[in-house]
Amino acid sequence: MGICFYEKEKVFQIDTKNTSYVIALIDKEGFVGHAYYGKRLYEADVAYLTRMQEGCRTPETNERDRLSFYDCFPMEYPTHGIGDFRESALRVEDANGHWANKLTYKGHEIFAGKKKLAGLPATWCEKEEDAQTLELTLEDKEAGLEVVLSYSVFADVDAVVRSARIVNVSETTVYLTKAMSASFDMDNRDYDKILLYGSWARERHIDRTPVNYGIQMARSNRGEGGHQEHAFTALLEKNADQNHGEVYGMDLIYSGNFRTLMEKNQFDNIRTMTGINPEDFRWELVPGAQFQTPEAVLVYSEEGLGGMSRCFHDLYRNHLIRGYYRDKKRPILINNWEATYFNFSTEKLLSIARDASALGIEMLVMDDGWFGNRYDDNRALGDWEVNEEKLQGGLGYLVDEVNKLGMKFGIWFEPEMISPESELYKEHPDWAIQVPGRVPGLARNQMVLDISREEVADYIFEKMAKVLHSANIEYVKWDMNRPLSDIASAALPKERQGEIFHRYVLGVYRMQERLLTEFPNLLLENCSGGGARFDAGMLYYSPQIWTSDDTDAIERLEIQEGTALIYPLSAMGAHVSDCPNHTVGRTTPFATRGVVALAGTFGYELDVTKISENDRNQIPEQCRTYHKYNDLVRTGDYYRMASYRETHTHDAYMVVAKDKTEALVTYVMVKRRANSRSRNIKLLGLDPDKTYRIEGQERTYLGSTLMNAGILAEDTWGDNQAWLYHIVEA
Ligand code: GLA
Repeated sequence: MGICFYEKEKVFQIDTKNTSYVIALIDKEGFVGHAYYGKRLYEADVAYLTRMQEGCRTPETNERDRLSFYDCFPMEYPTHGIGDFRESALRVEDANGHWANKLTYKGHEIFAGKKKLAGLPATWCEKEEDAQTLELTLEDKEAGLEVVLSYSVFADVDAVVRSARIVNVSETTVYLTKAMSASFDMDNRDYDKILLYGSWARERHIDRTPVNYGIQMARSNRGEGGHQEHAFTALLEKNADQNHGEVYGMDLIYSGNFRTLMEKNQFDNIRTMTGINPEDFRWELVPGAQFQTPEAVLVYSEEGLGGMSRCFHDLYRNHLIRGYYRDKKRPILINNWEATYFNFSTEKLLSIARDASALGIEMLVMDDGWFGNRYDDNRALGDWEVNEEKLQGGLGYLVDEVNKLGMKFGIWFEPEMISPESELYKEHPDWAIQVPGRVPGLARNQMVLDISREEVADYIFEKMAKVLHSANIEYVKWDMNRPLSDIASAALPKERQGEIFHRYVLGVYRMQERLLTEFPNLLLENCSGGGARFDAGMLYYSPQIWTSDDTDAIERLEIQEGTALIYPLSAMGAHVSDCPNHTVGRTTPFATRGVVALAGTFGYELDVTKISENDRNQIPEQCRTYHKYNDLVRTGDYYRMASYRETHTHDAYMVVAKDKTEALVTYVMVKRRANSRSRNIKLLGLDPDKTYRIEGQERTYLGSTLMNAGILAEDTWGDNQAWLYHIVEA
């Protein structure tokens, strides 16, 4: 790792162990261009890559045609309105309503460590020597604007994280209408792109298509990331697969409206960009004020998608996730949602807890329905008082009884919401986001609280804190079950209504930070109608996130594959539920459900008092299996050998310990073929020279044999069968 400024070449070189990112300063005016990002370089003089000798000559040598320069130069942070007609990263309206901006070099600073981003989640380093940062300041003298581009690298991961801070150094108020986190230009090498798409209960499916001319993008304007699109893009060589080929991945540490795009232009260059969605965004910057963008993460790997994923996993596990549970095994939980929905009582919950604890389950999570008049999903959000009709004896009694069984207790909240039929709405109708004079659109019969307002956020936080202080509650599931619409805030003047979406997200971050400060040992799991808020921003607050409301083992293969493309297995909420599955109606073997859920944080989502004897009897063994393998799954390197999405028959992945002394292979045969035989699967990531044994078998194999010749995975009667193979150093 290292960041250097080469004076003579006028080049910044940002190195990780295996990659380089190079920025060049061009001509007397000091245009800042992106020269290179990819495999590590060992000489600095690569400014030629900005093609200054070709058509794109600098204004210095071709003053008569500035526009042709602007429109092809690989600007490091492209502006708007002066002649770069590609997508811009920044758009600012000045006091006269004009929006032309030009940024050139002003100065820079290189220092050890990494600063915090005010109010925003971001990667961090424990010790100063673990990271290095370049702050590159650009200026637009005419406009009185400065942009501080910040780049950090870490000693242990091949990732570059960057963000931008826009400072108004003029004497008049300006309005930001676009402030992206990162942009970089590169030559197209006939790349494919990967975007993640989905729907409720079908999140983060992988979509790989060629990069076409023009702009292709993923975005959200829902106030959260959403189920449908994801703030992630990958560019990859045509022949790149799981284990080979060049891949560029870009993710955004943010939980609100995003836009991530790539644009292939007339010269076959690709500009890739990510940041806050400029649609519906307008931010007032008074003189002296600054705006901090969220942080973007760039990863380059020449080891295919797998290499990229492992890099994201390491970065997020080592430098994003925080807190008490970061490096700990999480308790096996049982959640009552699919078991009872709204229909439960103290006795019902205790009956589940009694059986669950006897079977090895370690925590009871009481889901939606414990507060106010919440007998169904039409009412009571905002009324965070325990419903003692349902919870006879009160919450304290229930938690004590659960604790007596040796189990922890967790609880569900949906803090950002308000039901029109609630005590809170009667008192504070103006706290709900809605456009005055317009009937607001409900979703799940609920509205969104204006969390951008501190007094609203503080009121809800204090209600939550009161409940959490009232009993020994060790886990919170923080849910959010509808997107934002009908945007207006009673607290902001008309020129600042465009700040609501981002202020809302900042409000959520502030509440979660407060929660973790007041309850430092709490295990927080974020959730949004399943997995609509599975993003890197939330991971800064909660080490695990509910992946999807779809708990069907087969549907989960695709959802978990798409999620694990970026996020570590340690973060994926995964549970065993009852069959026929409540979202797709499919029946799968109980054992398979257990094996698939092992790829994440493990738990149950069923009425353990009602399931069949045969299923019940498998729970103790599943719990033992979780304990046996979770350290490995949580901390190891993830490799994928086969994807059901592509094979239409089977799925196979493995996790290898960092020291390569053991590995766990998961193989799921979804669809059995007639007259078929065992399937040969080549393992990945082992030490070729170590000798291994497959647990339960006598003979040993060299790692190279397991990787080059493969293992023979079983093939038995019936669909949806799953196996685990534990590979241990002999
Ligand atoms: C969302 C969550 C579920 C459950 C319900 C409760 O859909 O994803 O797990 O908590 O809300 O209403």
